[in-house]
Order: sequence, then structure tokens, then C-alpha cells
Amino acid sequence: MPDQPQRHHALDLILRKREGGELSDAEIRYFVTAVVANGAARDNHIAGLAASETATITDAQLGALLMAIYQHGLSPRELATLTTAMRFSGETFDAAPLQTFTVDKHSTGGVGDKTSLLIAPIVAAAGLAHRTTAGVPCPCVPMISGRSLGHTGGTLDKLETIPGFNTQLSLSRFTEVLRHAGAALIGQTPSLVPADRLLYAMRDHTGTVESPFLITASIMSKKLAESLNALVLDVKVGSGAFLPSLDQARQLASLMVETGTRAGTRTVALLTRMDEPLGRFAGNWVEVAECVEILQGNAHPLSRDLVELSLTLAGHMLHLASRAESPAAGAELANQMLTDGSAYQAWLRIIQAQGGDTGIFTDPLRHHRPSATRTITAPHAGFLSSMDCRQVGWAIQRLGAGRTRPGDPVSANAGIEMHLKLGDPLQAGQPLVTLFAEDPGLLNEPESMLRETLQISAVPPLRHPLIEEIVR
Ligand code: URA
Repeated sequence: MPDQPQRHHALDLILRKREGGELSDAEIRYFVTAVVANGAARDNHIAGLAASETATITDAQLGALLMAIYQHGLSPRELATLTTAMRFSGETFDAAPLQTFTVDKHSTGGVGDKTSLLIAPIVAAAGLAHRTTAGVPCPCVPMISGRSLGHTGGTLDKLETIPGFNTQLSLSRFTEVLRHAGAALIGQTPSLVPADRLLYAMRDHTGTVESPFLITASIMSKKLAESLNALVLDVKVGSGAFLPSLDQARQLASLMVETGTRAGTRTVALLTRMDEPLGRFAGNWVEVAECVEILQGNAHPLSRDLVELSLTLAGHMLHLASRAESPAAGAELANQMLTDGSAYQAWLRIIQAQGGDTGIFTDPLRHHRPSATRTITAPHAGFLSSMDCRQVGWAIQRLGAGRTRPGDPVSANAGIEMHLKLGDPLQAGQPLVTLFAEDPGLLNEPESMLRETLQISAVPPLRHPLIEEIVR
């Protein structure tokens, strides 16, 4: 007689996890199947997934199970099984026909963090420049990015300010763009890792987002579904990070590196500071414009941290892809791609292949047309000493650059320009930050938030290095 499939009950899973016990692999797979089946029953956008007759879990049970996981964590085996079950909960991207070395970068989310817009063309340029290197497959960057989330910005929202740029490509078109341009940047399709979309929405409603285990399963299931050969993780530390302390960031980085490595993807994580917006601008179009100026060889001095971090991350990617003997040599190659204009050519190729109008890149800041602008100046002389970077992120969101609910529209023109970096000296009356919005009424609350959080001291503050640690 064939084995009868074992029946599971959501309540048993909750009770065991509540007491700090472990779930079996079969139970974890049951839980993920039930989540997707319930989602499919509710949301017929998840093509090809039928509601399961055997795996069920109510929203209340799901919330309780997530809270039990939040409280007690997961063992390495449980985390690996959860990540794999989520990864294969829908369609996956198959990079095999490309015959390339697929390498991506993922950030845990920050304010003004636009490194993806520089790294994708830099690594694509290095790959295309060396297409013929014997025996070494050329690296390409299949980037599946997200939208703004809470106080953090989203790569897709920034890219969609480029007229015509299409972030919703089918996976077959994604493959064509990768073959042609060496990199492509798209959004998650409805059928790619549906378990994460459903679980993330439930975590958002149940106060269970900030679990290093659930963040790891969420990020790594999506990245592994891209069928990556290598992955560089930028794990943010500091007041603008989802997990602000160095200890929490270390734990998250180790969990993600271990999960990636177990799945056969060469993975490295960099712990990097997020105590202030990265670069000069934060918002949507302004961030694209800042990157275009850098790619065109016109980097502003206030973009130096952005350039340094992008070259370092790209250097690690090129090293993992065997294009450079060390991460430092990779960063040098990345810098060469930036300074000789190859990265800008790769950027134009990517944007055109995804339908974007590259005419907008001529003098890009001329296309920034906010209806309302206000500048906050320093009340007295001193040094810009600290800020709550999460509060700065929320101010940017309230200017209209982010959203309060999934699906809300975002403003292309909203955002801020920082006139100083932490530690810089300043005089009374000197501009600190300029706010941009579509409507003057949207400026007041963000202005108060920024005035409250930007601190000026009489002595220079202690500075952290931009790159705190590397976790291999
Ligand atoms: N980004 C994700 O994709 N998932 C999380 O859980 C947190 C940040």
C-alpha cells in the first residue's frame, strides 16, 4: 500500500513553536503550502496555483505562528527548510540558457541607498568588456528589486521616474535584456516567490517584520529564486537600518551568508553604516539624477560615500565572479569601468532595452521639477553631529516619495538634498537640507521632523567607518 501523506494541523505547529520546540521539515513545507493556497484562493493573480484541499491555515493562526517564530527564532535546519519552501513556492528564474555567471547585490534597505543603480551597469560593463575571456563565464546581474517599504526607498520607484522604463518584464524578456545588456532590473512577478509576498503582508500587520530569521527567509528566498551563482549582501547598521545594532546586523548577516552558502550560492555580507542618507539626495528622480551624474563622470563631492560603497560592493561581486583576484582588485576594475565611461554606456543599454527614454539624462537635475521647495538652515555654528536616520526616512516618505499602503502612488519629484555630511563643520545660517514636494502643504510636517532630528554640536562627532565588517 502506498504511504498515506501525513496530515498536519496548524494548531500543533503553533503550540510547539510557542513552547520553543522545533518544526519538522514536512511541517514547514505544510505551513508554506497552506499560506500560498490561502493566498491563491483569495487572490487569483497567483497563476497556476490551486487552493490546497489538505493544507489550511487561518489568518489568526498564521499571525500566531509568526509571533512564535519571532519570539523563539528558528534552528539552522528550520531556516534552511523555510527558505527553500518559500523559494520554490511559485515560479523561479532559470538563468541556465544565458550560460553566464549570475551575481547580484541586495541591501537590507536604507535611506538614499541607490547603489543598485550604479552597481548593475558597472558589473555589466566589466562582464561585457571581458566576454571573450577563455573559460570564465561572463558575469551578469539579474536584479529583482523592491518598492519603497516603511522609511526606506525602493529601487523600482526610482527607476520608474525614467519615462517609459518598464520594470514589469516577463521572465523571458528579462532573459533577453540580460543577454543583450548584461544586467536588467525588474520587480517581483506575481508568481515569483508568492509565499514571501503573503507572509510579508501578514508580518507587516502582526509586528513580526523585525525578526532576523524571517528577514533572512524573506530576502534569501527571493534572491535564491533568481538562480544566482553569487550574492553580495549589504546589511545596514545604524539608526536608518531595520535592525539598528551591530549585534543584530551581525546575526542577520551570518544567517543570510549561511543560508546562501548552504544553497550553493557564493555569498558574502558587508555590514555598512546607515546613520545618514547615502550620498547627496534621497527621493526618487533625484536619486536617479545623482547616479547619472556619477556615471557621466560628474560626481558631486557629497556623493563620495555612495561612490565608495558602490565600488566596494561591485568589487566583491567581480571577485566572486572570478573577474578579479581580490575584492580590492575588483573595486579597482569597477572604478575603471566608471571612469572610462563603460558603465555609463552599459547603463544606457539597460535603460533602452527596458523601454526607457535616455534623452532625460542630458543635464538630469534640470528635469527635477518639484512644485514646492524649502531649505532648513543651521541655527548656530558647529558640526553636524547626529540624526535619527529612520526619522529622516519617514520625513522623505511624508514628502510624498514613499507610500503608506502597498499600491499607493509615489511622487517622482519629492525628496531631500543634504548639503552636509555628518561631521562637517558649519556656520550659522548655512543650508542643512532642502525639501522637495508636489504641494507646499506637504512640507510642514517633514520640516519639523528634520529640524528636530538634525543635531549640531560644538565639537566634531566620532565617526564610524562606512564599511564596518565583512561576513564571509
Ligand atoms: N526586505 C525584504 O525583502 N524582506 C524583509 O523581511 C525585510 C526587508
